[in-house]
Amino acid sequence: MKTISTCISPQLLPLHTLENKVAIVVDILRATSSMITAFAYDVVSITPVPTLADCRMLKEQGFVTAGERGGHKVDGFDLGNSPFEFMDHQLNGKDLAFTTTNGSQAILSVVNARNVLLGSFLNLSATADFLLQQNESVLILCAGWKGKFNIEDTLYAGALAGLLQDDFAYEDDATLAAASLYEQASSDLLAYLKKGSHAQRLEGFENHRDLEFCIKMDQFNLNAIYRDGRLYKV
Ligand code: MLT
Repeated sequence: MKTISTCISPQLLPLHTLENKVAIVVDILRATSSMITAFAYDVVSITPVPTLADCRMLKEQGFVTAGERGGHKVDGFDLGNSPFEFMDHQLNGKDLAFTTTNGSQAILSVVNARNVLLGSFLNLSATADFLLQQNESVLILCAGWKGKFNIEDTLYAGALAGLLQDDFAYEDDATLAAASLYEQASSDLLAYLKKGSHAQRLEGFENHRDLEFCIKMDQFNLNAIYRDGRLYKV
């Protein structure tokens, strides 16, 4: 039977195997939610890069630069990391270079998996459907915050695990715990999320609407998959 496992922090990734697995990278607040939104507005590709310098170099090659440090837009970048910035039809046909504190780094840490997809509540069912139709086991990588556990990515892991439970065996207690947490939180996800450390960081920046948007379910029927250095819509 296919299995599903959950890595609650990139720091714990060395304890997991990527071989023959589909990795789902999730950074609900906000990197993967923003990237999925960008694909919904028809960007052609997103190149996740580790540093601000990498992003600036790609700008010289015509890429649109996006991302944050400490939750704030970077000086000289075209866009920050709020999903609302990507709701722009002028991004249609563009290639983005993207760097964030946790999300883009987490994507780069699993590129050796058989496939890498982005996870967000915004396209939760599309991702579950994709995984149900293929034969690989799944590893959900929660981007966390600077190596630490966070609540919102773990809630996503629980939501996805719940949708897959009839076809996938839970491989570890982290998945079981995430699924139980989601069951407990799902009736008022926003209230639960607001207690989390990153939600409070964002509240500070008056980004309440980002929070509300990033927990909306199934706004977009698409997936984002990593191929040779870039993410593409499928
Ligand atoms: C990250 O990748 O660290 C986050 O998306 C930070 C943010 O909320 O901008």
